[in-house]
Amino acid sequence: MNTVAETASGSQSVNLEIRTRNLVKNYGHVRALDNVSIDIPSGTIFGLLGPNGAGKTTLIKVLTALIKPDGGQATVAGYDILASPFEVKKRIGWVAAEVILDDDLTAWENLWLQAKLQNLKDWTDTARKLLDYLGLSDRADSKVKEFSTGMRKKLEIALALLHNPSVIFMDEPTIGLDPGTRRMLWDLIRGINRNYGVTVLLTTHYIEEADALCERLAIISRGKIVAAGTPSELKSRVKGELIEVETEGVTDPSPLRLLEGVREVTGEGNRMIIRVDSSEETLPLILSKMNTMSIKKINVQKPSLETVFLDITGTRIDEEQQMDIRKFYANIRRARQ
Ligand SMILES: Nc1ncnc2c1ncn2[C@@H]1O[C@H](COP(=O)(O)OP(=O)(O)OP(=O)(O)O)[C@@H](O)[C@H]1O
Ligand SMILES: [Mg+2]
Repeated sequence: MNTVAETASGSQSVNLEIRTRNLVKNYGHVRALDNVSIDIPSGTIFGLLGPNGAGKTTLIKVLTALIKPDGGQATVAGYDILASPFEVKKRIGWVAAEVILDDDLTAWENLWLQAKLQNLKDWTDTARKLLDYLGLSDRADSKVKEFSTGMRKKLEIALALLHNPSVIFMDEPTIGLDPGTRRMLWDLIRGINRNYGVTVLLTTHYIEEADALCERLAIISRGKIVAAGTPSELKSRVKGELIEVETEGVTDPSPLRLLEGVREVTGEGNRMIIRVDSSEETLPLILSKMNTMSIKKINVQKPSLETVFLDITGTRIDEEQQMDIRKFYANIRRARQ
């Protein structure tokens, strides 16, 4: 009983696993969600891409009925989060950014605990099948503290799938993982999406991950959805290439605007973003109009999700990253494992 939405053409309808309209969440004077409206079709891997503090975890908390929004509406797996939070909770799984496993228990005991917490009956068959699917059957009776990071991630996914949810939420599932484990996890997420038919909503601030793994994306910045679509739709929105130039002192952009091949110049102070048709052709012209001694940094961006973010917000995703003490400790814990 999922929400049905008309597509833009009106000729087809798609099942929506998640639909939000104008969600707002405030923490004191901080607006963590600012009129968030997204549609997530059933059966897709959907990515929420944004820097630290963008509102990703807050959106997951609202959609998993852990916290209430201050405004707006949302349905998850066909149920309204405010009117039917328990129906929502029955149909969702959550893989948190923090470690949630009990290290002193075995894999099987962790599954048992999860079943108790969720009041599940007849869970053992599903648990056995999940361990088998994830390649953990022969480690069912090992204590989790003996597990590698990849094995722990697999077990966290088994816990999230134990009650056969129709959607799972993964909050930065690959944060702090080495590239090999990250790729293993991408394959696993694709596999459970296909084989278990579950819709996946994952958050990430890794551009590469959003591009490689997600069929559809929403880019979130300071609580607002600033763009949404498939990775290729988003990339095709950015016309041309972007040249970022950082200078000592303030540079007058007016002469650059007159150059052939320059579409626009934005930015302020000592940092400009120049949109051009072709950086190879136009960069020499730009340099000829500038005091090259004053240039501190030049960076050329070909069309990519990074350019989409830069184009829309005027900043890079990694520039907005700040020290996050919670993640710092999560990484240390993982490193110790
Ligand atoms: N419990 C809280 N109390 C007060 N402010 C909060 C709380 N939770 C989040 N915020 C604020 O809301 C904003 C969004 O935070 P949120 O955790 O949703 O971001 P995020 O996109 O998940 O970031 P990250 O990538 O660092 O996990 C931030 O400004 C944050 O400081
Ligand atoms: Mg977060």
